[in-house]
Amino acid sequence: MSEESLSQEHHTFAPDPAFAAQANGTKELYAAAEADHEGFWAQQARDRISWATDFGQTLDWSDAPFARWYVGGELNAAYNCVDRHVEAGHGDRVAIHFEGEPGDTRTITYADLQREVSKAANALESLGVGKGDTVAIYLPMIPEAAIAMLACARIGAPHSVVFGGFSAEALNTRINDAQCKIVITSDGGYRRGAPSPLKPAVDAALEHADTPVEKVLVVRRTGQDTTMVEGRDLWWHDVVDPASESHEAQPHDAEHPLFILYTSGTTGKPKGIFHTTGGYLVQCAYTSAVVHDLHPERDVYWCTADIGWVTGHSYIVYGPLANGATQVMYEGTPDTPHRGRWWEIVAKYGVTVLYTAPTAVRTFMKWGHDIPTQFDMSSLRLLGSVGEPINPEAWLWYRKWIGGDRCPIVDTWWQTETGAIMISPLPGVTTLEPGSAQLPIPGISAEILDDEGQPFTEAEKVGYLVLTKPWPAMLRGIWGDPQRYKDTYWSRFGPKYYFAGDGAKYDVDGNIWLLGRVDDVMNVSGHRLSTAEIESALVSHPKVAEAAVVGASDEMTGQAVCAFVILRQEAVAEADEVGEGVDLVKELRDHVAKEIGPIAKPRQIMIVPELPKTRSGKIMRRLLKDVAENREIGDVTTLADSSVMSLIKEGLVAGA
Ligand code: WT7
Repeated sequence: MSEESLSQEHHTFAPDPAFAAQANGTKELYAAAEADHEGFWAQQARDRISWATDFGQTLDWSDAPFARWYVGGELNAAYNCVDRHVEAGHGDRVAIHFEGEPGDTRTITYADLQREVSKAANALESLGVGKGDTVAIYLPMIPEAAIAMLACARIGAPHSVVFGGFSAEALNTRINDAQCKIVITSDGGYRRGAPSPLKPAVDAALEHADTPVEKVLVVRRTGQDTTMVEGRDLWWHDVVDPASESHEAQPHDAEHPLFILYTSGTTGKPKGIFHTTGGYLVQCAYTSAVVHDLHPERDVYWCTADIGWVTGHSYIVYGPLANGATQVMYEGTPDTPHRGRWWEIVAKYGVTVLYTAPTAVRTFMKWGHDIPTQFDMSSLRLLGSVGEPINPEAWLWYRKWIGGDRCPIVDTWWQTETGAIMISPLPGVTTLEPGSAQLPIPGISAEILDDEGQPFTEAEKVGYLVLTKPWPAMLRGIWGDPQRYKDTYWSRFGPKYYFAGDGAKYDVDGNIWLLGRVDDVMNVSGHRLSTAEIESALVSHPKVAEAAVVGASDEMTGQAVCAFVILRQEAVAEADEVGEGVDLVKELRDHVAKEIGPIAKPRQIMIVPELPKTRSGKIMRRLLKDVAENREIGDVTTLADSSVMSLIKEGLVAGA
C-alpha cells in the first residue's frame, strides 16, 4: 500500500491481545473511577506512593478553585523517586542511560542516583538553601538537571527550571518573579556538534543590582572558558563532589510546593504555574504506569523532551523515576552527527517505550523512512505523542516506520497546568483512532462546551474543552497571582469549569479531537508561545511602532510565528534611503531571539503601513492570519478602515 492510500483510509487499531495481557491499564479502572472519584484517587495514592504520614481527606475543594489533595499527608518526592527503590533491592537497576551529543555516556543506577542526589542536597544546604527557598535551574540535558531537581525536592526547595534555549532576559524575569536564591547552570552544552555556552546568559541575567540570587552553581560540561564571579559562582564539582553521600529526606506536606514552571499566556507576562508535591507525584506515577505502561523490571523508556518543559518534569523525572523505571536521556539534536541518531540510540539501549512530539515525527517523515529502516528497532513496543495534535498521516507513518506496524500509539493531551496526562488512550485497552487523543483517562472528566457554555455531545460540532472535576496534579495557582489564576482558568465558563484554552470536537464514535488553541497562544513545535509576548518584544525595538503576531499553520512545526510590523517614521525614511528592508527584518528577528529565545524567532516578519483594527481598536488577528496563510481575506465589515487590508496586501506584493 502506498503511503498516500494509507493516509486516505479511515483506520482504527484494536488492542493486540498479547499487549493487553501484560498491560497495566485495564477497562476496570474506568468503572472504578466512575463509581468513586475520590476513592479512586485515594487508592492510586496509597498503591503508588510511599507516605511518611498517611493523608485524611482525599480532596478539599471547599476553597475552590484552590484545591488541596491528600490533606495532612506527608511525603518526600525524592525519596519516592530514588531511595525507596534502593531500599526495595533495586539499587543496581539503571535509572539513567545518559548519551551525550558527542557520544560520551554515563550509566547511573538507582544507588548512584541516591548518592548523587544526597550529595547535591547536602551541597545546596551548605550554600544556605532551605525548605521553601526557590532555586532556578538553567541546564542542558545532562544528568545533573534531574539530580538538581531531585535535590531541591528532597530539601523542599521549589525548583524553577528555565529552558536552556531561553534568553538572558527571559531568565532574568523568571528568576526575579520567583525570587530565586540560587541558580544552577553549566558552562555550556553540546548542540549540533559544537559546545554552546550557557553561563554568559546567567551572568547577563544577574547584572541588575537588585537580583535575589546569592550563589551560582556551575556544572562543568564542555570545559569552555568560563568567567566565575568571585564570591558568587562556585563549581558544582568543588561543592557537590566532596559533600556527604548520606542525606536524611524529611517528609513534606502533600501541598508543599514542588516546583514552578513558567509558561506563556495571553498577556506579555509569563505565568509561573506551580505544582505541589502529593497530588502531582500521584498522577505522574499513575499515568507513567497506565499510559506509558512502564514495567520497571523490563522496560527501557525514552522521552525525548527537554527537562525545561513540563514533559521533561513529569515524564523524565517524576513519573518514570517514581515507578523505578530505566530510561535513556539524550543531550543533543536528532541529526547530529547523522539523521539516524535517535534510531541508533533506540537500537543501542533496546528502547521499548518512546515518547516524543508530532513535530519530530513530521521531520522524520520528511527525511524519509529509509533512515529508520537501517536500524534494528524491534525492541520498541509502545509509542507516545505529546505537545500538539498529531495529524493522522504522521500518526500512521509513526506506527508503520517507527513502530513496525505493531506498537500502539498513545496520543496524550495535557498541559503545563494539568501537570500530567489527562486525555489519552490506554494501550492494551482502547481501540486506537489516529489523530484523536480519544478519552479522558480513568479519574479525569472533560466536556466540550458551546459558546453559551452549554455542554454538548453532537459529533463534528466545534466547541471548547473544559475539565469538570478537580484532579490531583492540577496547578495550585499562578505564583504570586491568585486572581490571575481564577480569571484565566475558572471564569470563562463560570467557576465549575476549568477552561483549557483548546478547541475540541467529538467524532461519531465519541472520541475527542483536540483542535488547537482558541486564545492568543501559539503552538510552535509543541512549544507554547504567546502572541502578546512576541509583540512586546518587537515593540521594545527602537525602530518599531506597533506589532501584531499571529500563528500561521506550518506543515513542519504545526504553527509558525508571523509578525506584522509598523515602523516608526524615522525608521521608514531610513530604510527607504538605504534600501535595508532585508537587514531590518533580520535585525528584528534577532531582537526577538535576544529578548525571549531562538524558539520565538518569527518565521516571517512583514513590514506593513497599517494594522487591521476594529472600531474599538482591537487588532483583528483573524484577518492577518488569512494573509499569513495565503487565504482569501475573510469578513472585513467590522474593520474601522476597510481599505487597510488591501493596503497590506498591496504592500506585501510590492515588497516581495
Ligand atoms: C497545549 C499545552 C503537554 C505537555 C507539552 C505542552 C497542546 C498538548 C496535545 C495533544 C493536541 C495538544 C494544547 C495544550 N497539546 N498535547 N496530544 N493533542 N494538542 O505543554 O506547553 O503547557 O502546552 O499544548 O493546545 O493546551 P504546554
